[in-house]
Amino acid sequence: SVLPVIMAGGSGTRLWPLSRAGYPKQFLVLSGNESLFQMAARRLAALASPEFDLAGPCIVGNDEHRFLVLDQLRETKLEPSSVLLEPMGRNTAPALTLAALAALEGGTDPVLVVTPADQTVTKPEAFTAALHQAIRLAADGAITILGITPDRPETGYGYIRTTSEGSGLAVAQFVEKPDLETAQRYLAEGDYYWNSGMFVLRASVWMKALERFRPDIAEATRAAWAARKADAKFVRPGKAEFAAVPSESVDYAVMERCPGTDIPLRMVALDAGWNDLGAWEAVWQVADKDEAGNAFVGDALIADSQNTLVHATSRLVGVVGLKDVVVVETADAVLVSDRARSQEVKQIVNRLGAEQ
Ligand code: GDD
Ligand code: MG
Repeated sequence: SVLPVIMAGGSGTRLWPLSRAGYPKQFLVLSGNESLFQMAARRLAALASPEFDLAGPCIVGNDEHRFLVLDQLRETKLEPSSVLLEPMGRNTAPALTLAALAALEGGTDPVLVVTPADQTVTKPEAFTAALHQAIRLAADGAITILGITPDRPETGYGYIRTTSEGSGLAVAQFVEKPDLETAQRYLAEGDYYWNSGMFVLRASVWMKALERFRPDIAEATRAAWAARKADAKFVRPGKAEFAAVPSESVDYAVMERCPGTDIPLRMVALDAGWNDLGAWEAVWQVADKDEAGNAFVGDALIADSQNTLVHATSRLVGVVGLKDVVVVETADAVLVSDRARSQEVKQIVNRLGAEQ
């Protein structure tokens, strides 16, 4: 069987001030009428096929957002398999481990289709076809990742170098978040893909790889899982035990270490209009724009401006004569940023600390 897993516990700080600690970006409606999380759940439900049993999604999120998760799921009318709530963020490796342990609990070893909750895809058929191929490879024991053809030296992504041609390429190298110089070199060399952040693998294969490369994370997460409390809606790992779990991403903990070992890491190319809405720049990229390249959401009046994004949530915003600027208005905070530098919003959020 196939079990979709949605990792929905991130904080999404670079979309401040719209994305907040209590209401992070995956739960925001940034385009269309559904949140990124809801769109992720729907994309996964569309993987249903006569070829295998597709379970409802397993959501791994933060305890603080449990009602956002439940309310938004209810709107999609999708029944979750389970909702696992972390008492605090420990990044994605422990999150995936909780999902794997929950999946193995039932005595079966499903293929997990692990996806972030903060991406958009414009070609759903291509998405489904690539994921189906990844599921077949994973059913045979491979860890399968989905690769995107890069178009800029983005430093916020993982980079994948493959060896053979054809479908289900073998991964020779995986480098998470290289520096700019390295990313530029990869782009020039041409045979690199971006990691989409989706991982398709059997629950037991994940546990085996984690035991091999990060036994400390495996052991600490097992302890937290053993101390879990469950009610009708939620499963919560033990709080003190989970606090002791090392914080690490799936990419650093396992993916970077697989090439050259006997743990098979394969890649399927994904050409589905994928976008990671990491920062305001990416939101502008995917937005509907006027002839001058301006995009706006909410009450916004734009005069004589170019390639500018205005996102108004509670007041009327007017801008004149701007070029390549992002303006985001909320009831209690306003951001005005150079569009190309919108990644650096993180600096402001760091200064705000927990008050954001
Ligand atoms: N449950 C849970 N707990 N989810 C989390 C946690 C956590 O502690 N931390 C992050 N997530 C969720 C986020 O909400 C997001 O949906 C997903 O896991 C990925 O986390 P990000 O923090 O957004 O990762 P990233 O964007 O820096 O990097 C990953 O994605 C890139 C593509 O978007 C990596 O896999 C990169 O290699 C990849 O290129
Ligand atoms: Mg991300």
